[in-house]
Amino acid sequence: MDKLVIRGGNPLKGRLHVGGSKNTALPLMAAALLGDGVTTIHNAPVLQDVFTFANVLRVTGARVRFEPDSDANSPDSMVIDARNIDHVEAPYDLVKKMRASFYMFGALLGRCGKARVSLPGGCAWGPRPVDLHLKGMEALGAEITMDQGYVVAKAPAGGLNGAHIRFEPSSVGATINVMLAAATANGTTVLDNAAAEPDVMVFGNMLQAMGAQIEGLGTTTITIEGVDKLNAVEFTNCPDRIELGTYMIAAAIATPPGETLTITGAEPDHLGEEFLTAFRQTGVPFDIDGSTVTVTGVESIQPVSITTSPYPGFPTDLQAQWSVMMTRATGASSITETVYTDRFKHIPELNRMGAGCRIEDNAVLVQGLNDQSLQGTNVMSTDLRASVSLVLAGLIAEGETHVLRVYHLDRGYENLEGKLAGAGIDVRREEYQE
Ligand code: UD1
Repeated sequence: MDKLVIRGGNPLKGRLHVGGSKNTALPLMAAALLGDGVTTIHNAPVLQDVFTFANVLRVTGARVRFEPDSDANSPDSMVIDARNIDHVEAPYDLVKKMRASFYMFGALLGRCGKARVSLPGGCAWGPRPVDLHLKGMEALGAEITMDQGYVVAKAPAGGLNGAHIRFEPSSVGATINVMLAAATANGTTVLDNAAAEPDVMVFGNMLQAMGAQIEGLGTTTITIEGVDKLNAVEFTNCPDRIELGTYMIAAAIATPPGETLTITGAEPDHLGEEFLTAFRQTGVPFDIDGSTVTVTGVESIQPVSITTSPYPGFPTDLQAQWSVMMTRATGASSITETVYTDRFKHIPELNRMGAGCRIEDNAVLVQGLNDQSLQGTNVMSTDLRASVSLVLAGLIAEGETHVLRVYHLDRGYENLEGKLAGAGIDVRREEYQE
């Protein structure tokens, strides 16, 4: 297995480039199955989750290949040939590696009128149900049965039919899955309390480019007028908003006072207003100029409490990183989770490094350490965002931090150690035995 070894205390400065969004690339890949042709997706991130999903697509008969993008800064293009889809299954072995494989449910129902998709298992945090996905497909008329851990779905004769569906709570995954199936259903589908996340919006933009009739993207009511057929397209993925937020937090804690970290290739609007407002309140100056965000290091960080919520609220995918930033603040703050109420696996590990955090129900109370440092030690990754929060802690810890089981990190951060090393951080990857 691999671990990252970080020697803390080095200044983070210079430039970091944001790659293509993971959480957008996956539904874009699923959408490519709806077009009877060859789709090209530019700015595809080079990540384990993207490779896993490419393998999920290949099971259906789709051909997927990666090509270097012409822009040296941007990761890759993905070419998906969906002309011969003849196997309507997403097997357990692949789905268990990544929940987002469940997008095959909507993609296969939409394309072939049937699907056999393994139920995703549990997750490092909470049960993460899929009831809204199932109810949504049933509302469209799909007949659903369970067979040995698989969801087996079949459209009625004549195809799926549009329906009025309300999601409670708001769900990124269920919104995307139902949109995949509804794009070619008969008649109109209205999704209430739909996810307004930029990932959903950009995914909807690709469906529109393929010929889908969709209104209300970026709002909580999405209306889809079914069309007969979708076409293969060439489409560019958006930058990863969580990677941007992670780098802004990294700069806040590890860029020396008065010096700067310039983050390029970003889409700052996609962070949502609440994150930007909270960041501003910490007193860490940042400047947005188009796709470039420049963060200036400070002497002290003001404590700012946050509560996660759907977009444009504070993203749940940035709360673990925020807790590390708050360990460096001049006072106490709280982090309240309303999306995944027990997503705090990183907290015991941060406390082992000397952080003063206490979990109370769905909140973490962070006691800012002010000038005191965290201490480097062995810490265990448990999921993607928890892992990156431990890397951030390593940037400011005394001595070496060994972040174990770094495969969690490789699912969603492209060449993180290479990028950080290029911006002044002493970090290396090592193999180890568990
Ligand atoms: C996506 C993101 C993940 C992010 C999350 C919330 C991807 C690949 N993953 O996950 O990084 O943390 O959005 O922004 O894009 N829920 C139900 N029933 C369902 C589905 C969801 O009750 O059928 C609940 C969940 O338990 C959770 C809330 O809805 O409390 C939001 O989850 P959802 O938006 O669906 O998360 P994902 O799409 O799985």
